[in-house]
Amino acid sequence: MLKRMEELFGVDLGTCNTLIYQQRKGIVLQEPSVVAIQTDTGEIKAFGQEAYEMIGRTPANVEVVYPLKDGVIANFDMTLAMLKYFIGKIKSGFNWFRSFHVLISVPCGITNVQKRAVEEMIVHKGARRSITVEEPLAAAMGAGLPVAEPIGSMVLDIGGGTSQVAIISLGGIVVSESIRRGGMSIDQDIIEYVKRTHNMIIGERTAEDIKKNVAAVMKPVKNVEMNIRGRDLMEGLPRSITISSDEIYEILDDFMQSLVECIRLTMEKCPPELAGDVMEQGILLCGGGSLLVGLDKRLQQELGVPVHLAEHPMACIALGTGKMLNFNGAIIERSTTIEIPEDRESVQ
Ligand SMILES: Nc1ncnc2c1ncn2[C@@H]1O[C@H](COP(=O)(O)OP(=O)(O)OP(=O)(O)O)[C@@H](O)[C@H]1O
Ligand SMILES: [Mg+2]
Repeated sequence: MLKRMEELFGVDLGTCNTLIYQQRKGIVLQEPSVVAIQTDTGEIKAFGQEAYEMIGRTPANVEVVYPLKDGVIANFDMTLAMLKYFIGKIKSGFNWFRSFHVLISVPCGITNVQKRAVEEMIVHKGARRSITVEEPLAAAMGAGLPVAEPIGSMVLDIGGGTSQVAIISLGGIVVSESIRRGGMSIDQDIIEYVKRTHNMIIGERTAEDIKKNVAAVMKPVKNVEMNIRGRDLMEGLPRSITISSDEIYEILDDFMQSLVECIRLTMEKCPPELAGDVMEQGILLCGGGSLLVGLDKRLQQELGVPVHLAEHPMACIALGTGKMLNFNGAIIERSTTIEIPEDRESVQ
């Protein structure tokens, strides 16, 4: 009998984006964690990038939803359907997760029950084995920090739905803190601001474009401007205005304060030796939100600690899961694992 080929996958299931790492191949998928559903029939119209393109452009009976909220799964059925679609995309005609081992990242601070629910969800779909790993730990591995050493490394991951701070030493998370604010909450702050000061309603995609193109958290050297379109609040008609980095700068202050507070809290809870390491080694920034213009400089200025942006900020976690798949050391050993019997046939 042929020995069944086993495949190892690392999954970064984020509020905004899902990345899949396949052993020996690298990152094989990066798509928005979005699903478009027909509200009257419940039928799924699109997943991933295709569904993301529909945001703000759907007819009344189609809704685009994020199955994850604040970094955790809010809708299990939809998350499963989405994961199944993603896996199908990289392995067309393949029997779903049949002989897969999956290492999936989860936010730090979630309960063991929540971790187990994620692991069981993957195993339920037929994966041979599923292991969860905390996101900051995977991010630190992905960025090449000395996680296994007795040295404190601090990671700040600013995702779409959450921002997490963690200090890692000897292969584990020593202290961590998180806030339910990330890139998506900045988009909402921008929508609110444009409504309040320009009497104009803009969509999520426009707000995200403003954030990516004109937002800066350090007083910009050069004021960048952008033309945006929306609907006039009073007249209900389409209108366009120019928005500048100078005005967006003010809006980001509240988010910056929450972030600095979260880092301070983590430092306060951390053993003094490790805090000393962080003062020396600095903080590693990752996640899509870390691409905000001037974020590293602003944090460095407010905290007096060196701040470095990861080389691949949005791929760090997936790359880290990839490294862990090849790593038979302490981290994998300590993770919870779920094994299912060889003869299991129920693959849905
Ligand atoms: N150049 C950029 N400038 C500012 N923000 C950006 C940039 N590029 C992406 N982002 C933001 O990064 C966020 C997505 O980051 P990421 O993919 O790390 O989140 P996630 O892992 O899906 O979410 P979470 O970790 O909270 O579950 C989005 O809010 C997106 O708008
Ligand atoms: Mg993330």
